Amino acid sequence: KKIKVFAPATVANVGPGFDIFGLALEGIGDELEVSLRDDSQIKILPIEGYEDLPTDPSLNVAGVAIQSMLDELDSQQGFEIVIKKRVMPGSGLGSSASSSAAAVYAANELLGRPFSKKELVPFAMEGEKATSGKAHADNVTPSLLGGFTLVRSYTPLDVVSIPFPAELYVAVVHPQIEVKTSDSKRILKREVALDMAISQWGNVAGLVTGLACGDFDLIGRSLEDRIVEPIRSVLIPGYEDAKQHALASGALGCSISGSGPSIFALTEGKAMAEKVAQAFDKYYTDLGIEHKVYISGIN
Ligand code: HSE
Repeated sequence: KKIKVFAPATVANVGPGFDIFGLALEGIGDELEVSLRDDSQIKILPIEGYEDLPTDPSLNVAGVAIQSMLDELDSQQGFEIVIKKRVMPGSGLGSSASSSAAAVYAANELLGRPFSKKELVPFAMEGEKATSGKAHADNVTPSLLGGFTLVRSYTPLDVVSIPFPAELYVAVVHPQIEVKTSDSKRILKREVALDMAISQWGNVAGLVTGLACGDFDLIGRSLEDRIVEPIRSVLIPGYEDAKQHALASGALGCSISGSGPSIFALTEGKAMAEKVAQAFDKYYTDLGIEHKVYISGIN
């Protein structure tokens, strides 16, 4: 028995929602072919184009995620996994989450669906933990559930889908420098001043309200992040200027995708996302930094 699955790349944090918000991009993501084995081995084939990624199942995110699911089921079932990586590791677009989510989704289907999609989130989080040291859920949740998601609580885990307007689009630029999630987490401050917290939870609530009511101006105003963005943006060459170019070409708002270095902007409509993507492209071309741009709906 064999199954082919796709799990989307994701934008985590989405402005003010560090570790809690995430959205799924359309058409960009990892593809996995997973089959049942006759023995208890989890075998991961070498990953084409990314030969340095581990194939040892205790180190590979897909292997770790599936193993945590098997442990819960008390199962010895073996799997063979072919990973077709389309999301570049270290891009800030949820590369490890995409592989983890696809792996647990596929294994769950092959085992006759013992878990719901929401119940798969903790297993995929174990995959995340293997790369970044922390089991954050803001990439794996949208990769598994699709759309725009909220991690309302980590203990106990409570994940929720947030309604959003169909015309909400995303423009992304990935300057091709690697930022490790573990590094960009380490530089963050452990404490937040009350006035910062007030502005941040104002923006979090504003973003949810804007999404639910389809109020694009409110979505744009609420993408402000006073806590994480000012610290992390120094790791991304040209960040402030790229953001200003995006806003000047009509983006509702712009911030860092996950832990960076990718930068995302939200727009009303696809045409505006194309315009913003062009602005990103021109800016990084002029700067002489290799980059990729994407435009996407949220799916
Ligand atoms: N919320 C996580 C972080 C996402 O910002 O570190 C990592 O992509």
